[in-house]
Amino acid sequence: MNIFKKNYINGQWSDALSQKTYKVNNPATQEFIADVVDSGKEDAEKAVQSAHAALAGWSAVPPKEKANILKAWFNLIMENQEALAALMTSECGKPLVESRGEVVYGASFVEWNAEEAKRISGMTLPATAANKRLMTIRQGVGVCTAITPWNFPLAMITRKCAPAIAAGCTVVVKPAESTPLTALALAGLAAQAGIPEGVFNVVTASSGAEVGEVLSTHPFVRKISFTGSTAVGKILLKQAAGTVKRVSMELGGNAPFIVFDDADIDAAVTGAMASKFRNTGQTCVCANRFYVHESVASEFAEKLSKRVSQLVIGDGSKEGVDQGPLINIAAIDKVDSLVTDALQKGAKCLTGGKRHDLGGSFYEPTVLLNVTPQMSISQNEIFGPVVSIVTFSSQEEVIDLANDTVYGLAAYFYTRDLSRAINVSEQLEYGMVGINDGVISTEIAPFGGVKESGLGREGGQTGIDEFLETKYICISEV
Ligand code: SIN
Repeated sequence: MNIFKKNYINGQWSDALSQKTYKVNNPATQEFIADVVDSGKEDAEKAVQSAHAALAGWSAVPPKEKANILKAWFNLIMENQEALAALMTSECGKPLVESRGEVVYGASFVEWNAEEAKRISGMTLPATAANKRLMTIRQGVGVCTAITPWNFPLAMITRKCAPAIAAGCTVVVKPAESTPLTALALAGLAAQAGIPEGVFNVVTASSGAEVGEVLSTHPFVRKISFTGSTAVGKILLKQAAGTVKRVSMELGGNAPFIVFDDADIDAAVTGAMASKFRNTGQTCVCANRFYVHESVASEFAEKLSKRVSQLVIGDGSKEGVDQGPLINIAAIDKVDSLVTDALQKGAKCLTGGKRHDLGGSFYEPTVLLNVTPQMSISQNEIFGPVVSIVTFSSQEEVIDLANDTVYGLAAYFYTRDLSRAINVSEQLEYGMVGINDGVISTEIAPFGGVKESGLGREGGQTGIDEFLETKYICISEV
């Protein structure tokens, strides 16, 4: 598989108008990987123009043909799984085993939406008079833009773009500054799959602001889909309001992970490992606050700490590594300051608790006990390999604690009591709830949050609905 370093606009590989480039480095080794295009406003404008020009042609392509092209893209992604995984690990640091998994996860959105492309149907409605016929059709919203994060360099692009393309939209993607190469590799495969010129465009940049402004304000753009921080999401929402664009926002999370006294503790420990340590704690749905019933807290903490202390830390490109580096030094500084603050305020460290001897942005997988809801670590998204355990004594108390946040993306809990499973899942103010399960993401189900965690859903049937408009047509016989 080729390594592409230029913007992909209108089916061409192009430099920035300014000719500027920036460097992409490996977060595990700090080694230089590639110089890529550092786009500005004018490059984003060119990409939007290209998506606009391609829109009429692509929306008119019969659904079955769209499906076949997307299926070809899916097959190429899977055929290149190993190369894509290696590239992804080199730019974002996640262990190879997880990168391979992300290729499968990302490809699944392409496959699912290839199938959905053939099932975009409208309705006929009961007529209001004998000479009238009422119907609805569903059409793609138009030109869409996607701003995607570094923690899932491939899957967050396909989760947005595959449904958009299946719905007949054209897309401009701005990948995260640290992970442009996976996005460009996807563009190379899109071209090979026969996705026509202008339908899928990628614009890379060292900073999101300039390109992001064009993608969220341009009058040709009808929808923007963003995954990233709540702070940036709020800026994009304001910018998109100027032209009343459709928006999908997958923003921050502060996921509670509750272990009730009736839980299967071994299963809860396994779920906690999967939820917390996926991508070295750097996912929006990672468990962030552990609430463990006081009667089982010592058993849970002891068993979990044992598993955590066995994790293998290192360069994700080495087989057998479980945890890679954090994405950059700012990320490790944040994690370290949250842990230090918690320890100073009385938390007890069971394992880890500091920067790793490997240096750079490696952090020791950590378990903290005696954390309180008032500590900063309970109120902020940690985005790192740290388990912070607060104990509770009643179901009412823990539901209040879990809901006491501006976020509402994912929540998890472990119980063997069926009525508790139903009641608690209904009372948690979250877009997604895992019961006795620590990893619930799939292309089949709606992914998204409530409150300041975002707007809209990605994945499943709802994922493609977000890129469709319903048009009502009333026909009168004259
Ligand atoms: C994210 O962290 O933004 C996505 C995680 C997932 O899809 O499971």
